[in-house]
This record gives sequence, structure tokens and C-alpha cells, in this order.
Amino acid sequence: MGEMTDLCVAECRRCPALVDSRSRIVNGTGPEDADLLFVGEGPGATEDERGEPFVGRSGSVLDDGLRAVGLAREDVRITNCVRCRPPENRDPSADELENCRGYLEREIERLDPEVIVTLGKVPSEHLVGRSVAVTKEAGDVEEIRIDATPYRVLLCLHPAATLYDRSQLETFERTLERAADLAGVDGAESGQMRLDGF
Ligand code: URA
Repeated sequence: MGEMTDLCVAECRRCPALVDSRSRIVNGTGPEDADLLFVGEGPGATEDERGEPFVGRSGSVLDDGLRAVGLAREDVRITNCVRCRPPENRDPSADELENCRGYLEREIERLDPEVIVTLGKVPSEHLVGRSVAVTKEAGDVEEIRIDATPYRVLLCLHPAATLYDRSQLETFERTLERAADLAGVDGAESGQMRLDGF
């Protein structure tokens, strides 16, 4: 059950609780040949309503951060570990993450990005397969393999972390700058800021 065409899942009923809580499936957005792939946890209320990832408050922080390093949302691909909104915005369960893993992995394989940026603890742990202290490890790069193909994962804070703790904003922006550098997308020249490396 569940079919993926053009990087999009049209129909899926693998997670009963999410089938009940979602209004729609929220697929990834952005170019299918993007060098940068951002992976969040799962859709929130605004994303569920609009059918696009990161279009609520966290999305504004992400857009601002991208702009600060000279990139636009249209330049990058953005997706989530699970494509359906969990009830009351709870974290997706281990089963739900596993049910959706294949869709994310197919998206990664078809996109073949230079860098995958994991936004927060849930996507970081989901993709690197170990527990991650994301506040400490933000900016670190780790190699993962999907069906023997290596990919670079850059661990990053969730944009929402900067809303509750402003001191995290600089770390978040530095990580985005690192992402642009690693991917060889030279947005920073036109950006308003040029932060020194870590
Ligand atoms: N937070 C996420 O992890 N994903 C979204 O799409 C929106 C907020």
C-alpha cells in the first residue's frame, strides 16, 4: 500500500493514527535536481492545511536563514521524515518513521543531493541511526549509506529551536552557511552576511 510517483506519495494508509489526523499527504517541494535537501520531522498544522513542508513559523525561520546565506527556498528541496501530520503535533512514533522511511530514501536516491541537512533531533537520529545531541553536534557532517550509496548528512538545529532560544540563531545560520559551502552553491556572495566558519 502506498505509491510514489515523481518523488510524491499520492496515497498511503500505512499509519492508522496519521490517516485519521491528516488533511492531506505533505510531499517534498523544490527542484528534483537540488544540491541541498532539507529534512524536517513532519508536517505541523499549517503544513497540513497548505500541503507544503515548512510554511508555518518554522518555515519563516528557514526562509530567513536561507536568505541570509544568499539562497532562496526555490533553490533547495525540502521534505520531512513523515508526510502526514501527527495528532496534536506529537513526535512521529518509531513505527510511523519506519513506515515512511522508504519514501524518504527513494526521494534521496532520486535527488542525489550534495548534502542532506537534517533539521532537528528527529530527522538527525532517523538518518544517522544513533542518538544525536543536536545542540552540541549542529554543524557536524556524517556519512550515511542508502543501498550502498554514500550521502553526506549535515546535522542542524530545528528552525523552531531559534524561536525559543535566540542564542541558537547564530548556530543555525552558521550551519546553513556550511551547507551552502559543502554543496558548492555559492549563495553567500550575494548574502547580507558572511559568517566565519565554526
Ligand atoms: N516542522 C517540521 O519538522 N516540518 C515541517 O514541515 C514544519 C515544521
